[in-house]
Amino acid sequence: MTFFKSLFSATAIAATFIAASASAQTYPERSITMVVPFAAGGPTDTVARLVAESMSKDLGQQVLVENVGGAGGTLGAGRVASSEPDGYTILLHHIGMATSASLYRKLAYDPLNAFDYVGLVTDVPMTIVARKDFEPTDLKGLVDYVKANKDTVTVANAGIGAASHLCGMLFMSQIETPLVTVPYKGTGPAMTDLLGGQVDIMCDQTTNTTKQIQGGTIKAYAVTSADRLPVLPDVPTAAEGGLNDFQVGIWHGVYTPKGTPAEAIEKLNASLKKALKDENVVARFAELGTAPSPDSDVTSAALKAKLEGEIARWKPVIEAAGQYAD
Ligand code: MLT
Repeated sequence: MTFFKSLFSATAIAATFIAASASAQTYPERSITMVVPFAAGGPTDTVARLVAESMSKDLGQQVLVENVGGAGGTLGAGRVASSEPDGYTILLHHIGMATSASLYRKLAYDPLNAFDYVGLVTDVPMTIVARKDFEPTDLKGLVDYVKANKDTVTVANAGIGAASHLCGMLFMSQIETPLVTVPYKGTGPAMTDLLGGQVDIMCDQTTNTTKQIQGGTIKAYAVTSADRLPVLPDVPTAAEGGLNDFQVGIWHGVYTPKGTPAEAIEKLNASLKKALKDENVVARFAELGTAPSPDSDVTSAALKAKLEGEIARWKPVIEAAGQYAD
C-alpha cells in the first residue's frame, strides 16, 4: 500500500510541477492588475497608465491600473504584498516605498522582504508650486512669506510617505519652519484644490505640474533638479533660489508579491523594458519633464539595490525631522 501511496504522491507532485511550469510558460493567460497606491489623476497614476498601456500591447493581455490610495501609498503597497504571488497583481510605486520604512512604526509589510523586483521605471524631478494668486514672486520671497505666516500657510501632500510629503518635509527642515499640511489620497485631488485656491503650496512631481505651470494656472518657484528643465526653462533650480541642499528625484519601480514565479517576473521585466522604449511613452515622459530609466536600471537587482540604498539614505533624515506615522 505504501508503495502505491508514495507513487501517487510522486505523481501528484510531478503533475503539479508540470502544471505550474506550463502556466508559467503561457503567462500571462489573463489580465494583470497594476496597483497604483495613490488616487487617479496624480503623477504616479500618470506614469503607471502610460507604462501599463504599452505593456498591454506587448503582453497581449490587459494591464489594468487600479488606484488604491491612502496612508501615503502604504495601503496600496500592503494590498500587493498580501496578494497571491502569481504574477497577476503588480505594484508601481515610487520613493515612498523607501521612506515609509522609516516613517511608519507599524507597516503591514516589510518593504525589503514582501516583494520581488521587476525593475526601475523613471526618476522624476519635483517642483515647488503655489496657487496662481499666491503673493510671493520668487523662492526667496516664498521662504520669507511662509516664515512670517507659518500658522496660516497650507501645504498639500499625498499623506505621510508620499513624495510630496517628503519634499514638503525637506522644505520645512531647510527653512526651519513647520507649516500646516493638508493630506490627500493623491496629488491629483490636491492639484484640484491648488487650482481652486483652497490650498496654498505643494511640492509635486513634474509629471503632475508641468502642464499647469506652462498654462499659468499655478505658480512655480523652483525645480528640485540639479539643472533647469527643458520643459520649464524659466523655472529656476532650488539652488538658484537659495535652497542649496534641495535636490530631490522621485524614482519609481515595479514590484510583485514575494514568491512570484521567476518566469512571470522575467516576462514582466522584458515587457517593462519594451514599454520604456515605446516612442509614445518616451515622448510623454519628455513632455512631463522626465525620462525612462536606462536598461541597466530596469532589472530586479537594480531596483532591489535602489530600495536598500534609499531606505538607508532617508532613515537619518526622517529621524532628524521627527515625523512619524503610527
Ligand atoms: C506623491 O506625492 O507621492 C505622489 O504625487 C502622489 C500621487 O501620485 O498622487
